[in-house]
Amino acid sequence: MIFVTGGCGFIGSCFVLDWLAAEKEPLVNIDALTYAGHLGNLQAVARHPNYTFVHADIRDAALMRDLMLQHKPRAIVHFAAESHVDRSIAAPLEFVETNVMGTVNLLKAAQALAESGDEAGFRFVHVSTDEVFGSLETSDPAFRESNRYEPNSPYSASKAASDHFVRAWFHTFGLATITTNCSNNYGPRQFPEKLIPLVIHNALRGQRLPVYGDGKQVRDWLHVSDHCAALRAVLARGQPGETYNIGGRSELANIDVVRSICATLDELRPRATPHADLIEYVTDRRGHDRRYAIDDTKIATQLGWQPAIRFDAGLRSTVQWYLDHQDWVESVTSGAYRTWVEQQYPSMRHS
Ligand code: NAD
Ligand code: DAU
Repeated sequence: MIFVTGGCGFIGSCFVLDWLAAEKEPLVNIDALTYAGHLGNLQAVARHPNYTFVHADIRDAALMRDLMLQHKPRAIVHFAAESHVDRSIAAPLEFVETNVMGTVNLLKAAQALAESGDEAGFRFVHVSTDEVFGSLETSDPAFRESNRYEPNSPYSASKAASDHFVRAWFHTFGLATITTNCSNNYGPRQFPEKLIPLVIHNALRGQRLPVYGDGKQVRDWLHVSDHCAALRAVLARGQPGETYNIGGRSELANIDVVRSICATLDELRPRATPHADLIEYVTDRRGHDRRYAIDDTKIATQLGWQPAIRFDAGLRSTVQWYLDHQDWVESVTSGAYRTWVEQQYPSMRHS
């Protein structure tokens, strides 16, 4: 069986659902159910015979060790993290505790299992981000695995630190670790604090659509199910000690993404005036990285993975998912969500 951490979040839940649909192997999901984790994301598999949920916090070192020695997984795919850059600017310490300390707890627990001799062929797949490489200029080549680490936000600094610990556990203790550095994901069940679901959420309510700065920052968008397919390839065929970049071959400026969402909604859910009229340029994110881009040559040539979903089709199906799942949106946008939105977008009107 395998362990997944953070399986109740956006990418983790996609990975769990896809895994249980495709594989015969049992999966144990460890999640603390923070504001970003929702049991409802996995309601469809809650009683699946190969699925076990453990409500636990990766910051609890003793519990992580006990769980590892009790279940003896053959692999762990580690998603659990504080994942939102803006929250890391507002409250950085939680990012150190979960992303750095929590990852070290899991490495130590996996090392205890490996050293007990119970799991030959063990793999520790660490799900990280392209943000560790810093910011690119328009003319710079895309990030390769050999790029220098230059994290700029508390979030990316915490992920970079965790990547370094993962590397250290490979070199010092011989743990079979693999790190992936992925670009921006989008798709169903993404919490509406991130750009795409936030814009859909606000647009459907006739609220302003906040675009930071000049809106010309570039991100490389990857559909979440393509990311999960890449992670399955890494788990199956990736080499211990290696890192793999994962991207969507879909570099877009934020303002163009927001305009595409507006155009899709104009078609699927027309209103009296175009949704783009709701766009509002707001104060830029502090330390805002200008551009991310992924060179995926290594994973494409060595593991035979490449993205399958084109952005325009993926965005349309994502918008449709949110239209069809407004009950999900209501269930995750509680009072705490409203408090966050009011704190993060003080200049905007809130309803
Ligand atoms: P998310 O915020 O949607 O979900 C995080 C999950 O981790 C939640 O279920 C939450 O309850 C759980 N969690 C948080 N702290 C925990 C703790 N202390 N103990 C146990 N569980 C805890 O995140 P996501 O967007 O699905 O990202 C998953 C991973 O992928 C993260 O490591 C992130 O850095 C990485 N990543 C995300 C993206 C992206 O675009 N979203 C891109 C590249 C890499
Ligand atoms: O690159 C991978 C990373 O992508 C992941 O590691 C992170 O976990 C994930 O959150 C994401 O980080 P970003 O900061 O790029 O994603 P976000 O959706 O927050 O923002 C995308 C872009 O849109 C970014 O340039 C900031 C901008 N933005 C975001 C919000 C929330 C706005 O213009 N307005 C907004 O309200």
